Amino acid sequence: MAKTIKIIGIGAGDPDHLTLQAVKALNQVDAVFLMDKGPAKDKLIALRREICRRHLTERPYRFVEAASPERDRDGDYAGQVQDLNARKQDVFERLIGELADGECGGFLVWGDPSLYDSTIRIVGAIADSGRHDITWEVIPGISSIQALVAKHRTTLNRIGSPVEITTGRRLAAGLSADVDSVVVMLDAENAYEALAESDAFEIFWGAYVGTPDEILISGRLKDVAGEIVRRRAEAREANGWIMDSYLLRRDEPKS
Ligand SMILES: C[S@@+](CC[C@H](N)C(=O)[O-])C[C@H]1O[C@@H](n2cnc3c(N)ncnc32)[C@H](O)[C@@H]1O
Repeated sequence: MAKTIKIIGIGAGDPDHLTLQAVKALNQVDAVFLMDKGPAKDKLIALRREICRRHLTERPYRFVEAASPERDRDGDYAGQVQDLNARKQDVFERLIGELADGECGGFLVWGDPSLYDSTIRIVGAIADSGRHDITWEVIPGISSIQALVAKHRTTLNRIGSPVEITTGRRLAAGLSADVDSVVVMLDAENAYEALAESDAFEIFWGAYVGTPDEILISGRLKDVAGEIVRRRAEAREANGWIMDSYLLRRDEPKS
């Protein structure tokens, strides 16, 4: 009998982000796979355990833990990511190997699994390889982007306009002139600072959104960039890690 894999989005930090669909899916798993890494590991794993304690109430289940491989920082970035994903695939295959035939395993993915997360790609590759007889599905979650803009009580896009989602690394390489709303994730280097001179942007920034450590700052980028840099550094120092993202909105051209 095939094994079933559920990739379940759990939201971006608030246990109440879990959707009814995610709760239903959780209550079908026999094994919850826990994989995290880095200094945030303990808090992020604790949140997953808390979600299971609160919501996985209809059947017995077990946790199956594995250390998540770290990116080897030698070589070019694309190569590093490719190598990391190959090692992650080995770990995922071992976890799936821990399921008995006919059992169901759940990967609890931070935010939404479609966004800057490799779980879908890796499980897809495992299914395609034919090495494991699995059926699999994806349950969407509330992403950190949705959580961020909801907390700031704003929209992602201007009426009829697009929004770009990118990384700090890409923003640092330059923002196209035709992009007026951009969400930036995975920014370790305060890439927004480079745009603060221009006085053409608003920023909606949030760290640890949805958790008790949440910090929200918004305003004219020029006015608040310094405060964000300072609060970000303090929070990172205090917690040992930081998870932050922001929406930058360029001023509309004056008619
Ligand atoms: C590897 S990506 C995962 C994104 C996730 N799949 C999602 O849907 O939000 C991690 C990045 O998401 C953002 N992030 C995740 N959770 C966050 C939170 N609670 N508050 C602010 N940003 C968050 C940060 O930019 C972080 O560097």
